[in-house]
Amino acid sequence: MNYDEFREAGHYLIDYLSSYLEEVKDKPLFPDVEPRLLYDLFDEPVPSHPQSLHDVQKLLEEKLLPYCTHVSHPGYMGLITPTPNPAGILGDLLASALNQNVGVYSIGPSAVAMELRVIRWLNDLIGYGENAGGNLTSGGMTANFIGLKLARDCTTNDTAQHEGLQGKWAAYVSEERHVSVDKAADAIGLGRKNLRTLPTNDKYQLDIEALEKALELDKAKDIRPLCIIALAGTTNLGAVDDLEKLHQIAMREKCWLHADAAYGGGMLLSKQNPGLLKGLELADSVTIDPHKWFYAPLDAGAILVKNHDRLRASFGMQHAYLTDQSEQKNERYQFFVNGFEQSKRFRSLKVWMSFQHYGKDQIGQWIDNNVAQARHLHTLAGNSEDFESATEPMMSAVCVRYKGNGLNDEQLANLHHEVAAQIEKEGNFWFATTMMKGKTWFRINPVNIYTTIETMDALFQTLQGHCKEAEEEMGGR
Ligand SMILES: Cc1ncc(COP(=O)(O)O)c(C=O)c1O
Repeated sequence: MNYDEFREAGHYLIDYLSSYLEEVKDKPLFPDVEPRLLYDLFDEPVPSHPQSLHDVQKLLEEKLLPYCTHVSHPGYMGLITPTPNPAGILGDLLASALNQNVGVYSIGPSAVAMELRVIRWLNDLIGYGENAGGNLTSGGMTANFIGLKLARDCTTNDTAQHEGLQGKWAAYVSEERHVSVDKAADAIGLGRKNLRTLPTNDKYQLDIEALEKALELDKAKDIRPLCIIALAGTTNLGAVDDLEKLHQIAMREKCWLHADAAYGGGMLLSKQNPGLLKGLELADSVTIDPHKWFYAPLDAGAILVKNHDRLRASFGMQHAYLTDQSEQKNERYQFFVNGFEQSKRFRSLKVWMSFQHYGKDQIGQWIDNNVAQARHLHTLAGNSEDFESATEPMMSAVCVRYKGNGLNDEQLANLHHEVAAQIEKEGNFWFATTMMKGKTWFRINPVNIYTTIETMDALFQTLQGHCKEAEEEMGGR
């Protein structure tokens, strides 16, 4: 390896990235390019001959960088992939250089200590006591999977991990759950049909009566409750279930309570909206994604568990080649017997660096700004005759829709999809569409450091113009 070349290429890359981050707001947010062109660009055999890092970087500038989605653009308000904060970007670079394998103490002693500290910080934010533990994961999907596996093992007295799930069981969650809960229900052997997806009230929170009824119906058929999954910030709207009530019900039913705060966990840092996640500390396990609303670069999810011992009960298998023979073996924390993963990326570094550099108050300020932006759009939509907003946002996810009174449901669905696609093409904004309670909505979710109230005004103006035009084209006016 030529380290002079590495040094030079590294300086070049950091200079490039500094300019990129400064100028990203002026770029078209989403590349207007046919997917075929991109597949053709990368249609290349395994390279046989070496190239200088300089030449490889030139290739990136030609093939990769012009065709990225610029999630740091202030108009990015789509699926929950926030602005990666610059301290976190440097953290990930360093993590790759050190290549500590956090799964095993002896391949990253200080990294293990840092990871434990970051997990402790997250547990402190939740309000968990000293017995709590956790793992950083690839994201909310994996964290929810681990949460449901912990639930399955605990509720079945640790029999299911040996014998498979015996007897009839069900898990309960609102229809507003993230799809990761369905995938987890499948992965732990419960089966997606045994996930009861229950209706919500007018604030999109789990309807407690519907839950009680489902439990009763299941009991009559000898189906036992494995787990209740509370949503502490739904993907569509940031709605928070009644966590205290769900905890009471889980206690009564002697089943696990898992809370999905993958997105909503950010609200733990909010100064202006404290207490929104009251009762989160009562859940047996909690998913929080620092790579969502703590503005850490991908990937950094987390599963936190109130009783650390449940991790070892679920994952404590130890092979001969992994046995620690040292005198300090009782002090060396081994993630591989306290979590699902074996080789494990050093994810905590970027989260630790983000907190060290910005502090939780600054990150909380970004979060409060995003909440204010979502509420501003809610007000704009509410004050307009042509739009409605699903409900006042509890967090930064807001769903608004064009009423298009002259159009039927199918036409309205098409209108929303077409308008979102046109706006994507223009490159100033990016957001998603969704379905809730049988209606199509624009799902707009600022999780971005650079978005402002003015960005929301401009977005609403754009929506108004495009929706009216689309309605006229459909013959609705
Ligand atoms: C509430 C919720 N849970 C879980 C997930 C899955 O997280 P990830 O995409 O990090 O796997 C998401 C993703 O948006 C989410 O909003």
